[in-house]
Amino acid sequence: MLNIALFGPPGAGKGTQSKFLTEKYKLFYISTGDLLRKEIKEESDLGLAAKNIIEQGGLVSDEIIVQIIEKTIKDNPEANGFLFDGFPRTYVQAFILEGLMIKLNTSLNRLISIEVPEEVSVQRLVERGKTSGRSDDTEEVIRNRLREYHNKTLPVLKYYKDKGIFSSVDGTKTIEEVTRDIEKIIDEELDKQLLNIVLFGYPGSGRGKQGMKLAEKYNLEYVATGHMLEEEINKGTEIGKQVKSFYENGQLVPDEIVVQLIENKIANRKHTRGFVFKGFPRTLVQSYIFDGIMKKHGLAITKIFELKVPTLELLKRLELRRKQDGSKPFDSSTQKIISRLEQHEKTTEPVIKRYKKTHNVTKIDGTLSIDEVFEKLCIDIETGYKNLR
Ligand code: AP5
Ligand code: MG
Repeated sequence: MLNIALFGPPGAGKGTQSKFLTEKYKLFYISTGDLLRKEIKEESDLGLAAKNIIEQGGLVSDEIIVQIIEKTIKDNPEANGFLFDGFPRTYVQAFILEGLMIKLNTSLNRLISIEVPEEVSVQRLVERGKTSGRSDDTEEVIRNRLREYHNKTLPVLKYYKDKGIFSSVDGTKTIEEVTRDIEKIIDEELDKQLLNIVLFGYPGSGRGKQGMKLAEKYNLEYVATGHMLEEEINKGTEIGKQVKSFYENGQLVPDEIVVQLIENKIANRKHTRGFVFKGFPRTLVQSYIFDGIMKKHGLAITKIFELKVPTLELLKRLELRRKQDGSKPFDSSTQKIISRLEQHEKTTEPVIKRYKKTHNVTKIDGTLSIDEVFEKLCIDIETGYKNLR
């Protein structure tokens, strides 16, 4: 999730910028001003309580704001993230937001303050008042709003400066320039978010190759249980010896062994931006354990891919590899290859099915060239990232 708050005096351009940002980053837009105006129009109890205050340019009570904000957030649990416009506007509201975000298991990523001098605010709003129909767009009320801003809202900045999530932009530039400055801040924020990819696909579908390329491009740790197990075999460890005999019979390695290795990897994670998991989780049991381990370490799967390749093509590829590189113990005969494909169908297909219920699993045509497949993965990751799913 990505949660951003736009801050700034009346007329700074919060509403104007919100339009571009919600569209680009697919955020759910929450403007307390708009929500209050809607309540007023509907003549609800909340609206009636807020009307006079807004018309005089004062701030509506925190009690009212918490009610409309909480309801809007609760009604949209599927949101990719929220863009707050004109909230939080008091110290109390900053705490309210913090509490609401915790409830959603998330947090405010950044508060961006659009800064303009008072006279620019007044000038813009008087101009806007000619067509906006907003009863608070008259010079006298605008001055009151600005006073409230200075007295009650500006002090909120300290809360976010202390938290280290405050940024500011010069709001006197053109609309396009301000958008660009804000986008830069948000993109930097996005870059910081972790990227944990799971690559599904039959043996021979190209998961390994693609996984390594993704790891390199996005600075991820490549986690291939196959490799990790091979390492154990090569080192001649106790685990390695057991693994070897399972391999030679074309069987899956028991969950206990694989899960131990994965937990170690995740617990000792390096300074990368995330993980790319290949060949794991491979059984339903592993998938439940995996979800648990990820949660325990505060991580989540950000993207799941399924590389699709027809069985005949898989056989062809694996046979070719067997002839060129006979060293893989699990692929040392055609029979073993076939049994591995069957095994995959039986045990891993249900895992993919399970994730399809909770995640967006993207199918990729694995018959394309290595570069083409890679390009498709990257495009999806990058647009998905912008869409924050
Ligand atoms: P709200 O609706 O939030 O109004 P506001 O904060 O006073 O801000 P505005 O909507 O007037 O300005 P904006 O920054 O969105 O600027 P815009 O993009 O329109 O709140 C209204 C009232 O509700 C408050 O007074 C309060 O009573 C109450 N309220 C709301 N939230 C509350 C809360 N959390 N707690 C308590 N009370 C609350 O741009 C303005 C104009 O400038 C436009 O015409 C635009 O085209 C132009 N413009 C924008 N950017 C540029 C630019 N870069 N260059 C040139 N022109 C530009
Ligand atoms: Mg506005």
